[in-house]
Amino acid sequence: MDVVVLESDQVDAEAQAALRRLWDRAFGDRFDDHDADHAFGGVHVLVRDDGRLIGHASAVPRPIRFGDQPWRTVGYVEAVAVDPAHQGEGIGRLAMERLHEEIASRWEVALLSTGRATGFYEPLGWERWLGLSYTQTETGVVPDDEHGGLMVLTTDPSAVVDRTLPVTCQDRAGDAW
Ligand SMILES: CC(C)(COP(=O)(O)OP(=O)(O)OC[C@H]1O[C@@H](n2cnc3c(N)ncnc32)[C@H](O)[C@@H]1OP(=O)(O)O)[C@@H](O)C(=O)NCCC(=O)NCCS
Repeated sequence: MDVVVLESDQVDAEAQAALRRLWDRAFGDRFDDHDADHAFGGVHVLVRDDGRLIGHASAVPRPIRFGDQPWRTVGYVEAVAVDPAHQGEGIGRLAMERLHEEIASRWEVALLSTGRATGFYEPLGWERWLGLSYTQTETGVVPDDEHGGLMVLTTDPSAVVDRTLPVTCQDRAGDAW
């Protein structure tokens, strides 16, 4: 098994196609073209077994606003997936721990949004966001209906993030968060 770190512009067409097959297998119909687009623009961790892609996690820079503080760039984790045939073997944890190193070298704070996997991220150091979440759109700031799955990781001990604050992202095609 090998673990490779690539910038998005180093992920060639063949690897992109393998990624999409992995995401479709892992997420089923919960994953669409927007989700695939969101995974690019930053750094990827790819886990391969005998040349076959079996795990992925990426982090991309996104402007985020905590409370009424100035916008700041955080690492936003996307498209974490392990081939169903290899889930439960520690590959997801391996990919995330390697991604944490990349996050720590680039951003003080990371965020992610997960539907079902908060229990996977918590032992890795991620904490649930406790405040409300919003999206900055062209027409104004819009509250999100629900956001139980928003999580934060602080990689710099001096970066204090108050998890009770409202948090705002900028709108994008597909899911904003
Ligand atoms: C979630 C996912 C990435 C985890 O990868 P994985 O390789 O199966 O996980 P690991 O084997 O590294 O598990 C590490 C630990 O997390 C736990 N865990 C794994 N998935 C979990 C989940 N969905 N909820 C709660 N805990 C989970 C494991 O039981 C294990 O616990 P242990 O250390 O006590 O044994 C993988 O199951 C997956 O691809 N799921 C479908 C896509 C998905 O939901 N991605 C995340 C969306 S943000």
